[in-house]
Amino acid sequence: MSEANTLEIRHLRTVFHTRKGDLAAVNDVSLTVPKGKIVGIVGESGCGKSMTAMSVMQLVRKPGEIESGQILFRGEDLLQKTPGEMQKIRGDRISMIFQEPMTSLNPVYTVGHQVEEALRIHEHLSKEELHRRAVEIFEAVGIPEAEERLKSYPHQLSGGLRQRVMIGMAMICKPDLLIADEPTTALDVTIEAQILALMKKLRDENGTSILLITHNMGVVAKMCDFVYVMYAGRVMEQAEVFELFRNVQHPYTAGLLQSIPRIDHVVDRLYTIPGVVPNLLHLPAGCGFCTRCRYAQDRCYEELPELREIAPGHFIRCFSTNQELSGKEESHA
Ligand SMILES: Nc1ncnc2c1ncn2[C@@H]1O[C@H](COP(=O)(O)OP(=O)(O)OP(=O)(O)O)[C@@H](O)[C@H]1O
Ligand SMILES: [Mg+2]
Repeated sequence: MSEANTLEIRHLRTVFHTRKGDLAAVNDVSLTVPKGKIVGIVGESGCGKSMTAMSVMQLVRKPGEIESGQILFRGEDLLQKTPGEMQKIRGDRISMIFQEPMTSLNPVYTVGHQVEEALRIHEHLSKEELHRRAVEIFEAVGIPEAEERLKSYPHQLSGGLRQRVMIGMAMICKPDLLIADEPTTALDVTIEAQILALMKKLRDENGTSILLITHNMGVVAKMCDFVYVMYAGRVMEQAEVFELFRNVQHPYTAGLLQSIPRIDHVVDRLYTIPGVVPNLLHLPAGCGFCTRCRYAQDRCYEELPELREIAPGHFIRCFSTNQELSGKEESHA
């Protein structure tokens, strides 16, 4: 393991033991977050993005369980840590912004109290200093009238302000790794742009590595250095971000890209990939995407394609490449 990587997930498999059988929410996922880089995980609802993040944090709850794999954080396997060690790492070196900020803020305390508590754990400060630092943090994440806002309860703040509080709290310990699970999904586009800019600034100033979960390819394009496309628990395509957008190869990724709204291209409704995400309990034996893939052949239903490298650092889990598929399209026409 080189020091250049903050996080290396290797062959992670996280399973839910349900009454109807076991389902693999995360299935043989390997992923690397280099130091100071922003790495995106993108995919439709239910593909395993949050469970990948929760596995890193070791917050997977029953009936879920991490079945196998390694999660190397700065070279050390988190799966070998005791719960106490893990708790320290979570509070200190890895921070997570959860999909729904309301669930991670305590409704009965003011946000100021919660920020000061988080500070108190990391720094020995007097009451006045704690307050002054809390104001600074609120100002740093762009919360107007910080003094006043510190006295608010979570429900008194808008979704955008709550998410800013969460980002402020996540950055208090200057973590090596920030995991942000759909940090802007609930917000309108102007607030989204501000929050994303804020995360980039934190990366630029502190060298924080970020694992950014989203279902939005537009956010990936704006934010990420590398991207992993997940479907039904597996990585389908991975590449450096320019390479991915220039040279998209997997039919699933191509479908996701068609669903980005474009300012220069007015459409009545957004393109969505036909069909539904398969039930993880009843996956096809072969490629998980075959039931929705317009190029699927018999082989795709029977055999799982391996991830293979088709250009330096660019991997796809598909038997065909885009060039072959577009050739097929022409011959069909
Ligand atoms: N408590 C649970 N019990 C059983 N299965 C679960 C449970 N939580 C999650 N799963 C399964 O894990 C899969 C992955 O869930 P996950 O939350 O990681 O999806 P996601 O990609 O984050 O989706 P979203 O975009 O909706 O947040 C789901 O499809 C679901 O089948
Ligand atoms: Mg999720």
